[in-house]
Amino acid sequence: MTPAIDVSALRKTFKGRDGASRAILKDLHLTVGAEEFLCILGPSGCGKSTLLNVLAGLDKVYEGTVNVSAGRVGYLFQEPRLLPWMTAEQNLDFALESCKVPAARGSELKTRYLAMTGLSEYRDYYPHQISGGMAQRLALVRALCVEPGILLMDEPFSGLDEITARRIRSDLLKIWEETRKTIVFVTHNAYEACFLADRILVMSDGAFRQETRVPIPRPRNYDDPAVFQLSRDVIKAFGDEMDREHPPAVSPVVQPSLVDDLDRHTAARMNI
Ligand SMILES: Nc1ncnc2c1ncn2[C@@H]1O[C@H](COP(=O)(O)OP(=O)(O)OP(=O)(O)O)[C@@H](O)[C@H]1O
Ligand SMILES: [Mg+2]
Repeated sequence: MTPAIDVSALRKTFKGRDGASRAILKDLHLTVGAEEFLCILGPSGCGKSTLLNVLAGLDKVYEGTVNVSAGRVGYLFQEPRLLPWMTAEQNLDFALESCKVPAARGSELKTRYLAMTGLSEYRDYYPHQISGGMAQRLALVRALCVEPGILLMDEPFSGLDEITARRIRSDLLKIWEETRKTIVFVTHNAYEACFLADRILVMSDGAFRQETRVPIPRPRNYDDPAVFQLSRDVIKAFGDEMDREHPPAVSPVVQPSLVDDLDRHTAARMNI
């Protein structure tokens, strides 16, 4: 089967404030299968949003090859990016009309996804009249309503309370199981990644460092101990990458709290 996303030798540089070029994506290779749910986990600033912008076709300035097939791309940005002069419903209608979704189908999808995200009562509210978490949920509705073949999601649930986030993660999995979209989901949350993904890539400093296939059968239960076990391994890989990129200032063997327990002489000898 043709992959939904095929990226080869992707390099992306940005000019820093000093005018010098900085490589942000460094020779990335990525293949995402049709209908695959891929999570990308990585520390802040490692290039995740930059990669999604390239995959979405918003950033066309790069070296290497990027092929994205499998239909329309839906993009849920890290921030909601709603049009402030339009109500919630008008924001959705704007996206539906731009993507030429037939009116009856659009109306059905709006009703379904607004109910799913608990926003049915807020159709006539403007973005400044809803909370940040509600705005992010509305942006999710907008991304789903246009029936994308590929859904790019940039830390979509990080601003939500945990109860709502859990509910929406489960709803997202149901939608994915029904509609079989290809999803690339960026998160800092290893547990979320293990619950959602078929495969997890740990990214750091503009490159993929570690790949984990998630063997947990579907449908998944958020409280499954297997999710917890796997997330521990992934967190370790994630932590190791963080340490590699930003070595700890203090030796992990001798934590600052232990210094208090050492006599001054020993501490001085150990240079801590
Ligand atoms: N338009 C730009 N011009 C210059 N540098 C940029 C630009 N966009 C991003 N960068 C730099 O690229 C690097 C990666 O940014 P990016 O937004 O991709 O990180 P991220 O992994 O998504 O981080 P976070 O988890 O905090 O969202 C950062 O060092 C950032 O300063
Ligand atoms: Mg980002």
